[in-house]
Amino acid sequence: MKKIILTGDRPTGKLHIGHYVGSLRNRVILQNKGDYDAFFIEIADAQAITDNSHNVEKIRQNLIEVALDYLSVGIDPNKVTIFVQSQVPELCELTFYYLDIVSLSRLERNPTLKEELKMRDFSNKTIPVGFLTYPISQAADITCFDANIIPVGEDQLPMIEQTREICRTFNNLYGNVLVEPKELLPENSCCNRLPGIDGKAKMSKSLNNCIYLSDDESTIKSKVMMMFTDPTHLKVSDPGKIEGNTVFTYLDAFCKDEHFAKYLPEFANLDDLKNHYKMGGVGDVKIKLLLNNVLQEELAPIRERRKYYEKHIDLVYKILAEGSDKARNIAKEKLIQVKKHMGINYFEDEELIRTQIEKYGKNI
Ligand code: TRP
Repeated sequence: MKKIILTGDRPTGKLHIGHYVGSLRNRVILQNKGDYDAFFIEIADAQAITDNSHNVEKIRQNLIEVALDYLSVGIDPNKVTIFVQSQVPELCELTFYYLDIVSLSRLERNPTLKEELKMRDFSNKTIPVGFLTYPISQAADITCFDANIIPVGEDQLPMIEQTREICRTFNNLYGNVLVEPKELLPENSCCNRLPGIDGKAKMSKSLNNCIYLSDDESTIKSKVMMMFTDPTHLKVSDPGKIEGNTVFTYLDAFCKDEHFAKYLPEFANLDDLKNHYKMGGVGDVKIKLLLNNVLQEELAPIRERRKYYEKHIDLVYKILAEGSDKARNIAKEKLIQVKKHMGINYFEDEELIRTQIEKYGKNI
């Protein structure tokens, strides 16, 4: 069985360090392991439009931001095919047939979709049909490339589950033509959801609590210095809490033992620092300066690479165009296969044409 990896993002904003620890970092590791037959990353602009129909300009602007973020974290277009969903119209065609095998009530049971509908405050009457059905179109994104390994965060599990169901129903109806995908979750559970710098559950642009991959050095430092810690830890000598302390959550995601020798040699490692913080005697400025050093070290090369690509925007569009072409050629082949299984490849179906000729020929 071929190993085909596919994942994607909606281009609704610049990517932040939550995206980085939750998925981008893993993608680069996967890419460099080389243990796959193909690796696709989709910029899901059409999916983003399903609830941004009045704001396509936002998607248009953020397409390049997301592409810059990918390239700057080290995703290599020679190893990974980066493509733009809207430029592969076969995905719409495939979606159209999948729409016929999923019921409305099944869609409405999708927990991630339910959550999103609540967040966006759609009433039943104002939900765009395209938004409600985006999990079906995502199933097309995945199956069109025979992808069987889908690196995602936990929130995408219902989408993968629904994709598998679509595969089974479709294969039962028309014969074995779709490959069932499986999710690949991040190993380190602290990285599943990085909180915002204010300690709120999630980084989000609207809460203004993100550290972006494209933030400059001084912006990162000022964001770290205002980070939420333990509100009861007032004096350096007070005992401090680790749980819910955003600085420690970030250190869990980014810090390695060798950082201590370099930046904070009075402690052996993160556990040692945590123990002292809990006992009292470690101030918040100390842990924030450590985190700042650790983040700067990780993000500086990303920012450097970004600067290079920012000066070569035409090259970035070229990478996207070539990736989309490549994806489209694969998708075209898949559609030929799918339509053949469905029996709607009329003009290549010599058997069909011959029997029709015979049927009518008899009467001549
Ligand atoms: N729905 C995903 C998200 O919101 C993005 C996405 C689009 C995706 N197409 C995909 C993820 C295909 C995995 C596979 O993050």
